Amino acid sequence: MNIRVKLSVLLLLILSLVLAGILIQYEIEKRGLISLIQNEKVDKEANINRLLKLEGRLLETFAYDYTYWDEMVEFVNNSKNNPWASVEVDQPVLTSYKANAIWIYTKDSSLAYSLNNLNDINLKNIPIPKEAITKLLGKKRFCHFFINTDKGILEIRGATIHPSTDNERKTPPQGYFFVSRLLDKKYITELSELTNGKVEIMQYPDNDNLALSQKKNIITFTKALNAWDNNPIGYINIEFESNLLPIANNIFRNELILFALFCVIFATFIFVTLSYYVVNPLQLLSKSLKTKDITYVSKIQKKRDEFGELARLILDFFKVNEELQQEIIERKRVEEERKKLEERVARQEKMESLGRLAGGVAHDLNNILTGMVTYPDYLLWTIPDTPENKKVRDVINTVKESGERASAIVSDLLTMTRSSTAEMKPLDLNKLVEDYKKSPEYIELMNRYPRITFETLLDRDLYNILGSSHMIHKTLMNLVINAAEAMPNGGKITVSTENRYVDKAINGYDSIYEGNYVVLSVADQGTGIPQEDLKRIFEPFYTKKAMGRSGTGLGLSVVWNTMQTHKGYINVQSQESVGTIFELYFPITEEAIEQQADIPIDQYRGNNEKILVVDDIACMRIVTSKILESLGYDVATVSSGEEAIEYIKQNPVDLIILDMIMDPGIDGCETYQRIVEIRPTKAIIVSGYSETDRVRKAKELGAGQFLQKPYRLQDIGLAVYTELHK
Ligand SMILES: Nc1ncnc2c1ncn2[C@@H]1O[C@H](COP(=O)(O)OP(=O)(O)OP(=O)(O)O)[C@@H](O)[C@H]1O
Ligand SMILES: [Mg+2]
Repeated sequence: MNIRVKLSVLLLLILSLVLAGILIQYEIEKRGLISLIQNEKVDKEANINRLLKLEGRLLETFAYDYTYWDEMVEFVNNSKNNPWASVEVDQPVLTSYKANAIWIYTKDSSLAYSLNNLNDINLKNIPIPKEAITKLLGKKRFCHFFINTDKGILEIRGATIHPSTDNERKTPPQGYFFVSRLLDKKYITELSELTNGKVEIMQYPDNDNLALSQKKNIITFTKALNAWDNNPIGYINIEFESNLLPIANNIFRNELILFALFCVIFATFIFVTLSYYVVNPLQLLSKSLKTKDITYVSKIQKKRDEFGELARLILDFFKVNEELQQEIIERKRVEEERKKLEERVARQEKMESLGRLAGGVAHDLNNILTGMVTYPDYLLWTIPDTPENKKVRDVINTVKESGERASAIVSDLLTMTRSSTAEMKPLDLNKLVEDYKKSPEYIELMNRYPRITFETLLDRDLYNILGSSHMIHKTLMNLVINAAEAMPNGGKITVSTENRYVDKAINGYDSIYEGNYVVLSVADQGTGIPQEDLKRIFEPFYTKKAMGRSGTGLGLSVVWNTMQTHKGYINVQSQESVGTIFELYFPITEEAIEQQADIPIDQYRGNNEKILVVDDIACMRIVTSKILESLGYDVATVSSGEEAIEYIKQNPVDLIILDMIMDPGIDGCETYQRIVEIRPTKAIIVSGYSETDRVRKAKELGAGQFLQKPYRLQDIGLAVYTELHK
């Protein structure tokens, strides 16, 4: 469960508790309100009872007033032929008391007189049993009950009749007097107005008469209308609106709305606050740790709370981690370099000791083989070439061929050993390549591999090297044979030469150091050399070929030893099924080839002119100054543009030889720009690279020729001479 879910659950719990509290509070309030409503109902009932009594008061007065009267006593005692009742209790009297009927009974409960204004003959007598009268008024002086008639329910009030002297009605009753009123529409309307409710006369009571009608906000009040025997014959039902019920309902609704509002605001507030202060920082911290990207954690590092502190700790941790990683990488690099160096040294030692061994064997074998090569020739010369001698001559020829092959191997072995005194002379590699193309070995190879094409890409301005033409010829021959043998199905062998200036050490098969080289490359489109074999191919007798015409395993050993003798380097790049390229780096020499017809040196000799050489590479400064001094110039050297400017300020010169790229200071162009601001000075720009925009800019500023490194004596001599005599 993540923190967001946990917080949501906590929030829900809090809100549930608040809701429970509100519900309890509501229940308490509701109960209070219900008791208030009950009180309201009791009050109302009391009022209604009072009203009903008031309504019946007139009828009660009527019954009371007429039964406390001597003439009435006289009448009930002798009603026959006595018109008193019809005069005194007539229709107008009924109307004045809002009554609808009266009955006068003698003390033996016989009807003496009755009158009604309802035109109902059934009401001549009160429709109750005769004995009911004495039951009702035998002990009591007044009675009150209701009867059901066709016209509706009649309210009846009765009283005993007494002489006027007996105002306390203590004497026995002289008769009975009943007055009645119909509970008609008028009565109901009147009652409705007085009670401010809805009045209904019903045969049966409303079952829910005591229940609160929540929906309608109505309270119902029901009063039974009892007959003479106390059994209800109908009901008055009064409904009136409660003032408190809607209030109770409103309170509950308002409380719910308030609670909902509170929940929304509280939840939003808590959620936003927790998100901002807790969840977001936590997510940023975990994202940073997961992705190892510090941008997330950096956002909160300035916070002053615990998260800020945690972020700063994580940043520190990342920093330490980064440093550790760097250290590990650096250590690995150093370790790898050390291993490579060790491997190289071991390889070198191994090759040298193998070379010494092979050389020793070769020396001894060479002497022994002399006999095997020279004697067969002598024998062949002495045995005439006739059919009879054929067999013997064939045997001798085989011995001769074997001897020659053995001596070729020994010759290879001797080439390999540096003890073989190779004559080192200035050489033009292009010429060696051209000579190889004319050699019998090349012609023989091309005949053997007719599907192979041979291409040469020779740099015509190639520098000379100091070397042994014999060794290099063998080297080239071995590389081309290997290339051809790697392409049994044909392909192209490319032999190229070029000048190459190495200004940053190349970590190839050998480590090739800074300097000027002539590079001889032999490239093929053959099978390639598997990576695991690359380490061993230069070892003597290492071969993957079946012994035969080729396959002694000495070819590349010759190449390796040749390069050792020439203080050069080898770089091999090979890709299986694509091809192999062998690059041989020969250091250049300024020595000219004797037979070369160059421009005579006198034609560009100097006359003690002052020349400043600006170059960051020490050996270039030395070589250039030596050349120029030998040509008769007065040379000074500095190693940076900044030094050159300082020098020029003090010492005017006739010409500056300016290197274009100098690390780490300003470049040649910038240097020249500042120098010409001090004083206009002639310049020659030199660079290991071809002409660039910066060189062109320097030329626009007034610099003369551009020379590409490495340059020969003649090139620099002519350039300086030409520039000085412009
Ligand atoms: N250009 C190449 N393409 C593919 N493999 C090569 C190439 N040059 C050399 N090799 C591999 O290097 C091994 C050693 O070569 P090396 O010239 O020393 O001996 P060799 O050619 O086998 O025998 P030898 O040259 O004495 O007749 C070869 O056997 C071959 O497997
Ligand atoms: Mg070979």
